[in-house]
Amino acid sequence: MRVDLCGVELDGPILNGSGTFDAIAARRAFGDSLLERFPFDCFVSKTITLAPRQGNPPPRLWETPSGLINSIGLPNKGLERFLASDLPKLTELPVPLCVSVMGFSHDELAALVEAVGSRDEIALIELNLSCPNVETGTLVGADPSETAATVEHVRPLTSKPLIAKLSPSATDPAAVAAAAEAAGADAVSLINTLKGMPLHPVTREPWLGGHTGGLSGAAVRAIAVEQVAAVAARVAIPIVGMGGVATGADAADLLAVGATVVAVGTESFRDPVAGRRIAAELRR
Ligand SMILES: Cc1cc2nc3c(=O)[nH]c(=O)nc-3n(C[C@H](O)[C@H](O)[C@H](O)COP(=O)(O)O)c2cc1C
Repeated sequence: MRVDLCGVELDGPILNGSGTFDAIAARRAFGDSLLERFPFDCFVSKTITLAPRQGNPPPRLWETPSGLINSIGLPNKGLERFLASDLPKLTELPVPLCVSVMGFSHDELAALVEAVGSRDEIALIELNLSCPNVETGTLVGADPSETAATVEHVRPLTSKPLIAKLSPSATDPAAVAAAAEAAGADAVSLINTLKGMPLHPVTREPWLGGHTGGLSGAAVRAIAVEQVAAVAARVAIPIVGMGGVATGADAADLLAVGATVVAVGTESFRDPVAGRRIAAELRR
């Protein structure tokens, strides 16, 4: 099950989806047994931004009959404190590390990529492109030309592999993936969450503090399979496939339509060792 992801050797094809597994909190809860039986073959950090962010007001989660809507809003310590306090702990994990970054402008993203790219402990960088261009309002990862301009801007700043994480809200995700590839991305990852808005059952007001949130889990699985298949037909670079993976069969589906590796997100909230179980099911 060993796999090469952009020149990085992984013991197997199961990653975590960014923001869905807090390895530092899990180490506090499970101790060193987490390191002995780490659930993933590569660890992807939650998305970090240049400045610290509080995230959205609560409530932040809504469970649907077949998924989860989250309105977390990217709370994080910001680049400086991530490098000083989280990175040394993440470096102790027994698998290669991928750091996810999001910039609200090209310059912000450039600063993140330069800083993260200069650290030997980090094997790969994921560009979370699900953010709006503050001038145009367009979601960068939903638009081929915005995606190309963003990837082109940061490509010369690091020799580390760059994974462009696409938005599933694109009219044509394969066109966005092709634009990322042409601009120098080493891989693409998909799918991120889809926008949804749950209502309070009594007041009929938006339930989530951020009003809207991102839908993930089983509800998005078939969308992920379709989008990964469409992207695989258009690009030659590796694909990190994700969206509703809860079993080895779900992972096999994404690999069958062209994913190189598979990431597990929402399922890890129900079962923190889902990554290991899914890998074992996949092997069988
Ligand atoms: C609570 C939560 C937090 C997330 N945080 C991030 C994040 O920080 N960065 C990111 O790129 N994606 C984030 N995602 C999206 C996941 O990485 C993944 O793309 C998506 O949930 C689909 O996979 P799944 O259905 O297996 O969860 C988050 C998803 C959830 C549910």
